[in-house]
Amino acid sequence: MASARMRWMYMSLVALGALCLYFSMCDMPVFGGELFVFKRDSGKFLQLPDADCQQDPPFLVLLVTSSPEQEFARLAIRSTWGRETEVRGRRVKTLFLLGTSARKHVAEAVAQESRQHRDVIQKDFVDVYFNLTLKTMMGIEWVHRFCPQAAFVMKTDSDMFINVHYLTELLLRRNRTSRFFTGYLKMREYPIRQRRSKWFVSRYEYPWDRYPPFCSGTAYVFSGDVASRVYNVSESIPFLKLEDVFVGLCLKKLDIGLEELHSQQTFFPGGLSFSTCRFRKIVACHFVGPQKMLLYWRALETSRGEECPAE
Ligand SMILES: *[C@@H]1O[C@H](CO)[C@@H](O)[C@H](O)[C@H]1NC(C)=O
Ligand SMILES: *[C@@H]1O[C@H](CO)[C@@H](O)[C@H](O)[C@H]1NC(C)=O
Ligand SMILES: *[C@@H]1O[C@H](CO)[C@@H](O)[C@H](O)[C@H]1NC(C)=O
Repeated sequence: MASARMRWMYMSLVALGALCLYFSMCDMPVFGGELFVFKRDSGKFLQLPDADCQQDPPFLVLLVTSSPEQEFARLAIRSTWGRETEVRGRRVKTLFLLGTSARKHVAEAVAQESRQHRDVIQKDFVDVYFNLTLKTMMGIEWVHRFCPQAAFVMKTDSDMFINVHYLTELLLRRNRTSRFFTGYLKMREYPIRQRRSKWFVSRYEYPWDRYPPFCSGTAYVFSGDVASRVYNVSESIPFLKLEDVFVGLCLKKLDIGLEELHSQQTFFPGGLSFSTCRFRKIVACHFVGPQKMLLYWRALETSRGEECPAE
């Protein structure tokens, strides 16, 4: 009787131990060898925009991530903040970053849209959320290869309202030419280890306990030279599906620090309720769909020249 119970307990302990070992190995950072490193020269460009940067160097290139299906968002941007081609006498260019769709009619519509507007940068990778790092690096590669003359580059998303005028004004005021990186600064972030989170990152993907300083992926801005520097160093950085953290890792390796663009907050990754006076003094606001985009734009255009109360 006693020995049967002992045997049962012994076997339970062995089973428990095996389970513990199994789960700890699943979570082990270097189990099974090397971390997966970013592959720099993967794939050729399927679509390239009409932009002769050598002839006509832009002051600011706005790279907007969007998916093949989001044509209304692109349309709204093209008819609002994305239509700016000259601000304070400086050239500005808005381009869209896309992956591919398996749906044939969507893929054809994108090719047609690209022929019409000549503002699409596309490579052959599946356009899904977890390929955002590939998409961002495609944009950085494009600047490095085709537009290193750009003084500044912004990477943003298609549900963002961008005040291109104010951004240009602040960049001119800062007067920086190299190793400059700004946005909504995240200096002390930790990897989320809860599996249910959208931003879950396992210890296998990212073994360290702290993220490097990075800027919210909703909108960040850098001097043109940073594109080539990041592109150059990216191949030695462990791949991470969170593109903003990945870029942060590249910057850390390059020893490029993050800087505030202005003493007041101008980047709003959490959104901001609209008023014309408020939006005149911001750079980027999240959660602005196509309809709001048009409304906000019209309100700002029609209120031009009106006074705002002093702060
Ligand atoms: C990202 O794109 C590549 C290339 O098309 C594809 O093999 C991979 O499955 C995609 N990633 C995800 C998470 O779907
Ligand atoms: C910007 O900086 C350069 C050198 O760094 C300087 O020559 C120039 O005068 C500055 N311009 C303004 C407007 O401050
Ligand atoms: C790229 O990296 C190599 C070696 O790491 C270095 O020699 C080269 O100067 C870098 N180029 C740029 C544009 O940063």
